Order: sequence, then structure tokens, then C-alpha cells
Amino acid sequence: MQPSLTIATRAARAAGRLILRYFERVDQLQIQAKTRNDFVSEVDRAAEDAIIQELKSKYPNHAFLAEESGPRGRSDFEWIIDPLDGTTNYLHGFPQFSVSIALRVRGRLECGLVYDPLREEMFTAERGGGAQLNDRRIRVANLTGLEGALIGTGFPFRDQRHIDTYLSMFRTILQNTAGIRRPGSAALDLAYVACGRTDGFWELGLAEWDMAAGALLVSEAGGRVSDLAGGDRFFVTGNIIGGNLKVHRALLQALQPHLSEVLSA
Ligand code: IPD
Ligand code: CA
Ligand code: CA
Repeated sequence: MQPSLTIATRAARAAGRLILRYFERVDQLQIQAKTRNDFVSEVDRAAEDAIIQELKSKYPNHAFLAEESGPRGRSDFEWIIDPLDGTTNYLHGFPQFSVSIALRVRGRLECGLVYDPLREEMFTAERGGGAQLNDRRIRVANLTGLEGALIGTGFPFRDQRHIDTYLSMFRTILQNTAGIRRPGSAALDLAYVACGRTDGFWELGLAEWDMAAGALLVSEAGGRVSDLAGGDRFFVTGNIIGGNLKVHRALLQALQPHLSEVLSA
């Protein structure tokens, strides 16, 4: 494992310990609404501080793009951090959330991890080096299309403009697959595609920190991620599709007709 990924796993475990320490008493946490349906707690901030502190101690000149503190510094080396992905779950005591950390070097994802502290599952990927779950190699599932597929997704709870487009997509996927899951942590949803627990995933309106590590996991596990036009602008549009090559193509074909004119791909 390259040194930067080793440091990142250390940072993620530190954040995970903090997240678990507060999990039993979430009702006592200080919570603020960032926008409608979008909450942040003192745990999100403390976990983010712990991650940045750990990374900075080793890489003082790197830049950071973290959900709660925004962009910091300028460098060819940029860490993209979601300290707690699945905050709504967490605040309800619903046991599905993760820590997501990725390193982008000159615009290209170099390594990344998604860590589930409850299950002690550490998903890691390095560009050209494959993807692992707790050090064991993982691969995407080998289904050949949507029939029989289990597809992960996320609901557009924040941006109401996406609802109609999303619901027509939802109907199509529901009618053509074995089922849909909405676990509530996009980073972990992508990690589940990478290890074959789901066959594919799509969501609209995500942020870079929700997708960065998970996107690398899927491609290093032999799958494909793209925006809804089949291109690689998902960091720009926030809309992402992932799966093995065949499921990805089938999802793209099924979802594209529903793209409304107001929604960029
Ligand atoms: C959210 C989760 C959720 C997804 C949302 C994200 P947060 O991240 O990934 O699954 O549907 O769009 O914002 O706010 O819990 O870090
Ligand atoms: Ca997130
Ligand atoms: Ca978050």
C-alpha cells in the first residue's frame, strides 16, 4: 500500500473512533441545518478536524477539499474528504454511514478509501493497483444486464428540482431489476458496487466528496462510473452511474431517456 493510503487509513480510523464514541448518544449532539434537510453535527466537524490534522502532520503542503471546511490551500495534491457520509442516518441512530477520503493528484484520483466503522470494513483503492476490502481483493459483480440486478440509489432530498426526473428513473429501474436499495451513504453505496453487494448505483446531485473515493473503488474493482451522458463529468454535474461494464451500459440506456432538459448530464 502506498504511504499516502496508509496515512489516510490511519486518519479514517481516528475519525471512525470518534464517530462511534458519540453514536450511542446522538440525541445529545449539537446539530445545525446547513440547508433544508441537510444537517451537520459537532461529530461531522470533529471527525473532519481529526482527518485533516492527521493528513497535515504528514503532508503540510497538500490542499484539502473537505465537506465542512471547504477548500483549503493550493497544491497538485488535493485530499477530498467526507468525514461522515450518511449524517441523516447517523443522527437517527440508523447504522449505515462511512468516512470517505480520496487523494487527487493533478486532477486524477490516485488513491481512496471508504471506511464503515460499525462493521470495521475498510474499502481501499489505488490507481492501477486494484481495490480491496480489509486487504482482500474485491471485484464488481458479473451480471450481464438489469434482469435480476440489485441496484443502489440515493433520493434527491435536498434539491427538489430533481424529483420528477428522479421518480421517472426510479420507475424504470424498479420495473426492470430485482430491486432497489437506498442505504443512505453514497460513498458506501459505491463501495458496495465495487465488492459486488449491489450490481449498480445511480444518484443525482452529489458532491465531489460523496463520490471521489467510491468512484475510484468501482473502477479499480473492474467496473465503470460515469455521468448520465456516459462521460466523466460526474464531479461537475453531481450525477453518477456505476456498475460492472454491462450493468453500467444497461443503466445508462435505461436512465438517459429520462434526463429532462433542465438537468445537465
Ligand atoms: C449524503 C449521503 C446520501 C446521499 C446524499 C449525500 P452526507 O451525504 O451520501 O446517501 O443521498 O446526497 O449528501 O450529507 O450525509 O455527507
Ligand atoms: Ca456525503
Ligand atoms: Ca458528510
